[in-house]
Amino acid sequence: MTRTMSVPGEGSAERKLTTLDLVAMKSRGEKIVAITAYDALFASLVDAAGADLILVGDSLASVLCGEETTLSATVEQMTYHGRIVARGASRALVVVDMPFLSYQVSIEEAVRNAGNILKHTGAGAVKLEGGSEVFDTVEAIVGAGIPVVGHLGFTPQAVHALGGPRIQGMDEDAAMFLEEDAVSLEEMGAFAIVLELIPTPLARRVTEAVSVPTIGIGAGPDCDGQVLVLHDMLGLNEGFNPRFLKRYAELGKATREAVARYAEEVRAGSYPAEEHGYEPAGDGE
Ligand code: KIV
Repeated sequence: MTRTMSVPGEGSAERKLTTLDLVAMKSRGEKIVAITAYDALFASLVDAAGADLILVGDSLASVLCGEETTLSATVEQMTYHGRIVARGASRALVVVDMPFLSYQVSIEEAVRNAGNILKHTGAGAVKLEGGSEVFDTVEAIVGAGIPVVGHLGFTPQAVHALGGPRIQGMDEDAAMFLEEDAVSLEEMGAFAIVLELIPTPLARRVTEAVSVPTIGIGAGPDCDGQVLVLHDMLGLNEGFNPRFLKRYAELGKATREAVARYAEEVRAGSYPAEEHGYEPAGDGE
């Protein structure tokens, strides 16, 4: 036990959530609020707003870096963003995505990469995508003491193999395989499973079949929790409008309008005004 660790149940100060807390939320029927963040500033905002889980998604490759897919994300990038997010989160559990090719080549490499991500970020868990092809990998990572979130349905790192971002598990065979994969991921030790782009009834069925929480994105209301990409729900990613996405703000529009106003005032010479300047004998504020 580290000397700085508080013992759950002792004292009432809000403490960092753990994987066990999220599993317990499922058994109490409490919904889990998950959202992405890629930096300390947004992490501290979503943490203060009550997010239970902050995902440092490899979606940063497209959202922040302008790539078409998530495939270019690297362990170094995920470690850097994981570290700055962990700095901003005081209550939420921070989960870092393992990027493409960091866990597919060999189990040994996967355990080392997952361990290094945890070691150098201060995050509490990693997430990786896939079904039967990653069972042994998940078991080995969990065996090394690293909590794992699984990810089924549309798995963006397999975008080319899946023929694009399409709804998965549409026929009964595919649905059955997906449900079996979820049950096996739990058996391998995953403490939560993201379900992306699958029909609502299948998400309900999977949620009932496993005792670990399911966290849906484009998977309907019956999952144990929901996750959205922060920049999408804030309306910063204006070109991205899938049916499942609800925009809770229009920050893209607000940003364009604010910068246009600033540009106008700079060009007109009305910003900075007198009150924004300093006098030699002023108070220096
Ligand atoms: O990378 C990401 O942001 C994700 C979410 C879409 C679940 O994996």
